[in-house]
Amino acid sequence: MRRKVIAGNWKMNMLPNEAINFIQQLEPLVKDTKNEVILCVPFTDLFYALLHVQGTNIKIGAQNMHWEEKGAFTGEVSAQMLKSIGTEYVIIGHSERRQYFAETDETVNKKVKSALSVGLKPIICIGETLDQRESGKTESIVTNQIEKALEGIESKNLENIIIAYEPIWAIGTGKTATKEEANETIAQIRKKISELYGQNEADGVIIQYGGSVKSSNAKELFEMSDIDGGLVGGASLKADEFAKIVNYDK
Ligand code: 13P
Repeated sequence: MRRKVIAGNWKMNMLPNEAINFIQQLEPLVKDTKNEVILCVPFTDLFYALLHVQGTNIKIGAQNMHWEEKGAFTGEVSAQMLKSIGTEYVIIGHSERRQYFAETDETVNKKVKSALSVGLKPIICIGETLDQRESGKTESIVTNQIEKALEGIESKNLENIIIAYEPIWAIGTGKTATKEEANETIAQIRKKISELYGQNEADGVIIQYGGSVKSSNAKELFEMSDIDGGLVGGASLKADEFAKIVNYDK
């Protein structure tokens, strides 16, 4: 049985004092869950968050990184820099980064390789636009994205990779994919992984759903056969609401 992984993506929100307050509120609310709990925080919160989750079951991720090891890349942060302070996860290829910061399947692949090379676990985001869904292209878009993201990645790395299926039309819109839509597309992604790596590997890989997840829909989504938890944006900014999502099975 695959574990459920619930990750918050704070995006460009939360100052360090807010991050610390949040973690102090969240910790007692999620301490008994068997689900994995991750907060992906802005760079400026990372160090504070890492200090304050010590001794808890909350894990910390970043939201982006550069693929180069070091050098003249003003404003960028490397995988090794994130790893050196204890960061465990990093979101790679979020649709907002693809849309506003010109990230492509190729840069996503370079970042995934760089993260894995230092022991940082990537959360790889893929998903289709509304146009693509309405013209019946969802499966070809997401399977192509995942194939390119994983190009050259060995199967032994799959246990350290999380995939987040986030339909772009469901992000921040309040419009959630139905549980059937989300499950069907995630099953198609899993099938692609079985073609690339074999059925055993595909059966083990964690694939989350993201896009307007909230406490009122988390249970029906996360109980679906192929959905292994969620990547949560807006609803991860309030500790009590996020805790309800983590505890969807209580
Ligand atoms: P919302 O949950 O705000 O729709 O955002 C989803 C998301 O982009 C998580 O990465």
